[in-house]
Amino acid sequence: MNVLVTGGAGFIGSHLANAFLDHGHSVTVLDILDPYYDLGIKDRNLELCRETAPDRFEFVEGSITDESLVNELFADAEFDVVYHQAAQAGVRTSVENPKKPHEINTTSLLNLLEAATATGVDRFVNASSSSVYGVPEYLPYDEDHPNTPKSPYGVTKLAAEHYCRVWTDVYDLPTVSLRYFTVYGPRMRPNMAITNFTSRCLNGESPVIYGDGKQTRDFTYIDDIVDANLALLETDAADGEAMNVGSTGNITIRELAEHVIDVTGAEVEIEYTDAKEADARHTHADVSKARDLIGYEPSTSIKEGVSSFVEWYRENRSWYEPLVLRS
Ligand SMILES: NC(=O)c1ccc[n+]([C@@H]2O[C@H](COP(=O)([O-])OP(=O)(O)OC[C@H]3O[C@@H](n4cnc5c(N)ncnc54)[C@H](O)[C@@H]3O)[C@@H](O)[C@H]2O)c1
Repeated sequence: MNVLVTGGAGFIGSHLANAFLDHGHSVTVLDILDPYYDLGIKDRNLELCRETAPDRFEFVEGSITDESLVNELFADAEFDVVYHQAAQAGVRTSVENPKKPHEINTTSLLNLLEAATATGVDRFVNASSSSVYGVPEYLPYDEDHPNTPKSPYGVTKLAAEHYCRVWTDVYDLPTVSLRYFTVYGPRMRPNMAITNFTSRCLNGESPVIYGDGKQTRDFTYIDDIVDANLALLETDAADGEAMNVGSTGNITIRELAEHVIDVTGAEVEIEYTDAKEADARHTHADVSKARDLIGYEPSTSIKEGVSSFVEWYRENRSWYEPLVLRS
């Protein structure tokens, strides 16, 4: 198949691009290389794709905000499936600057949906987020749980899901939104708890927790996320739907920090600082819907996944150091 991965130089998108190449598909990545975090990581992500299948991989540097570029790309390439991962990620960033995530995550989505409809794309898979739920009325969240996002980022992801559903209902474009629950693994974003804790512990520094550490998270290993996305190449059972893709369980942030200290062997104590207002207190996914529709079965427990990540990090510290910043 001919697959477009928007945001494919980033963490999740590059894992997807690599998996599609491994499965024999042709992949185009469209990414602006936003310097939200170290661009050296994105360069290496793209290099891995090129090495995997130089003849079936193409990188287009550009923005999904650029409607003419998007239209030309779709018209020339005639994609079968689109995996839309490009976004301004980050809950806290969205609180500081809400207009940027709105423009990228919501307004620009319409460029992609229109181009996908006009060129007859078979399926449009949208990366959504557990942030669409907000304050839990019960846990684990199922897809019937009310949506009251607590951050501008969560609002953009919820609006994007609704646009996708409407594009299926009104314009006959098959779409699926996958609600990711904090994804981690090799090459993950540097500005996330697991990367921070690991890097600090390996440098002999204390992991720093925002809040009391009793908040819980459903951390999902990247391989499980890749499996959910791969399944959508094969089935139309989830068209028009939004569904959770979480992990096998949840963990408190304090337990997570203790586990990282354990695995790294660091002789440090946890430090605590003020909680961030927009952060969710608890997240935990009920994955029954994805299990029923696409056979999704997360297989990596949080402790197993974090241990593998720490092992990978030890051998690949150069991925994160030194930082390569571009203006
Ligand atoms: N990582 C997580 O825990 C998580 C959780 C829930 C949802 N998500 C969603 O999954 C998707 C991928 O997240 P990620 O963690 O890989 O983030 P990431 O920041 O690593 O990747 C996003 C990519 O999008 C690109 N991008 C940004 N603006 C763009 C634009 N205007 N045009 C083209 N490309 C642009 C960036 O350069 C980056 O490479 C996002 O939609 C994010 O909202 C991620």
